[in-house]
Amino acid sequence: WYAGVHEARGMPWRKPYDAALNRDQRAQRAYEVWISEIMLQQTQVVTVIPYYNRWMSRFPTINDLAASDIETVNALWKGLGYYSRAARLLAAAKKVVNELGGRLPDNARDMEAKIPGIGRYSAGAICSIAYNECVPVLDGNVNRLLSRVLALHANPKAKATLDILWTGAEAMVRKSERAGDINQALIELGATVCKVRDPDCNSCPLQHWCKAYRYEHADDPVRRLCI
Ligand code: ADE
Repeated sequence: WYAGVHEARGMPWRKPYDAALNRDQRAQRAYEVWISEIMLQQTQVVTVIPYYNRWMSRFPTINDLAASDIETVNALWKGLGYYSRAARLLAAAKKVVNELGGRLPDNARDMEAKIPGIGRYSAGAICSIAYNECVPVLDGNVNRLLSRVLALHANPKAKATLDILWTGAEAMVRKSERAGDINQALIELGATVCKVRDPDCNSCPLQHWCKAYRYEHADDPVRRLCI
């Protein structure tokens, strides 16, 4: 399952990380992943793919986007919903071109600080996938997956829970050589296997490590307490 992560479900923004790319090529990868990540917020992969392809034909680079206008951008966004995402992309592209030398920042900390609309999740996704930086992601899918692996039994939105989950997500990529692949594998696993209802535990590569799985299969209440 791991080797196939780049081809998974025909996602055009998925390309193997290439350490040989120069600075401009790396920034271009970040642009592509940025567009995909913003489109994937609140929208499913199958819906996003044709929108992403049309967007990239119309705005192949961040310069093409920055030179456009809100009407053109909204027309390409039509049907995706949450139009504020499109407006923020345009505003951010103008800022990158006018104030940041035309390149998205080359690390997650600067990206979160300087690019409007990019929070910790998006900065982590973009920089781990495009730059292979060892930064974590925690979206709804990874939240559910890690909550189960750790058997947290806690409110997934509470600050204290999120602190634990971000720390867990950090541990997944610490000193990793393939942070982008690991993060995408976690997102993918959360979306396709560790589903909200009917998680497919028997095809899960984490079954052996998953405390929720063990908990569910322990009928002795004292053993449950020890998990
Ligand atoms: N959802 C958010 N980011 C994603 C990615 N990189 N691959 C698949 N689904 C995603």
